[in-house]
Amino acid sequence: MSEADLPKVELHLHHEGAAPPEFIRQLAYEKKVDLSRVFTPDGGYAFENFVHFLEVYEAATSVLQTPEDFARLTKAILEESADNGVVYTESFISPDFCGGGDVGAWREYLHAIREAAEAVEASRGITLRGIATPIRHFGPEKAKRAALCAAETAGDWLVGLGMGGDEGQGHQGDFAYSFDMAREAGLKLTTHAGEFGGPESVWEAIRDLNVERIGHGVRSIEDPALVAELVARQITLEVCPGSNVVLGVYDSFEAHPIARLRDAGVNVTVSTDDPPFFHTTMRREYEMLAQAFGWKEDDFRAMNDTALKAAFCDDATRARVKERLERP
Ligand code: ADE
Ligand code: ZN
Repeated sequence: MSEADLPKVELHLHHEGAAPPEFIRQLAYEKKVDLSRVFTPDGGYAFENFVHFLEVYEAATSVLQTPEDFARLTKAILEESADNGVVYTESFISPDFCGGGDVGAWREYLHAIREAAEAVEASRGITLRGIATPIRHFGPEKAKRAALCAAETAGDWLVGLGMGGDEGQGHQGDFAYSFDMAREAGLKLTTHAGEFGGPESVWEAIRDLNVERIGHGVRSIEDPALVAELVARQITLEVCPGSNVVLGVYDSFEAHPIARLRDAGVNVTVSTDDPPFFHTTMRREYEMLAQAFGWKEDDFRAMNDTALKAAFCDDATRARVKERLERP
C-alpha cells in the first residue's frame, strides 16, 4: 500500500470551489448562463492570479442557484473525495452564495446539503461537517449577516465559522463582531490568514479573532516568534500546498514550508482548498508530499491524527472517524 492509499481527514475544502468544471458547465447549460470566460479551451477553470481566481470562482458559483443545485454538488464532491480515500471532511459553505444572507433561505440550503451528505455517508462512509463562510472582500456588514445565519444554525452539523476571500482587503479585526457572535453560538473558528497576507495577518487572526485554526497560515514561517506562538497555543494550520503552488505563493512543493513548520512543532494538516481549480486531489497532495519530503506512512498517519484532533465535530463523530482511520 502506498501513502496515498491511506484513509484521510480533510479540514479545508471550499464547497463551491470543489465543483468540477463539467458540473458547472452542465448547470450553466441548463440555466442558459454564458460562462465562456470561466473556462480554458481544454475545459479547466481559467485564471491568471489570486484576485482573478476569486472572480472566476464567483462567476462559476453564479450557476448554483437553488438548494437542489447544492444537493447535487454535495453528492458530486463527496463521491470524488471518497474516491480519494477521504473519510471525514469539513467544507466551507457561504451564506452569501446560499440564499444571499437570508436566514430562512440559508436553512433550506443547509438542509438540502446535509441530506445529500447523509446519503453519501450511508453509501460511501465519508462524513461531512459544515463551516459557514463570510467572504472577506464582501465586507464586514455582509459578514455579520453570514455570521447570523451561522449562529442561528449552529449545532452538531454546522460546526464552525471560517472566513475566506481576499486577504488583501481590510483587517481580520474588522470582522471581530461576526466571530464573537459565532463563538457565543458555540461555533469553532478559523480564518484564511498567511496565504497572501504575511505573518501580520496571522498575528491579527490570533489576537483579534481568537481562532483555533488558521486556513493556510504558511507564511508564518517568515516570523520565528509567530511560529513559537502557534506551537504554544496549539493552533492547527489547514495547509493546502498544491493550491499555494498553483496560485504562486511558492514555486514548488520542494520550496513549500509545510515540512519546516511541522519540524518546528506546529500542528500541520493537508487539504486541497479548491481541487479542480488547482488540478489536485487529496491523493495527489499525499503523493507530492511523499516525493518532495520523503514522508512515509507514519508521517501521514500522524498528520491525520492531528487533523482529527483539530476537527470541529463533536467527540462521538471524532471517535467514529478514528475507527475508520485505523481500519487496516
Ligand atoms: N476562497 C476559495 N479559495 C480561497 C483561497 N485559497 N483563499 C481565499 N479565499 C478562497
Ligand atoms: Zn481556502
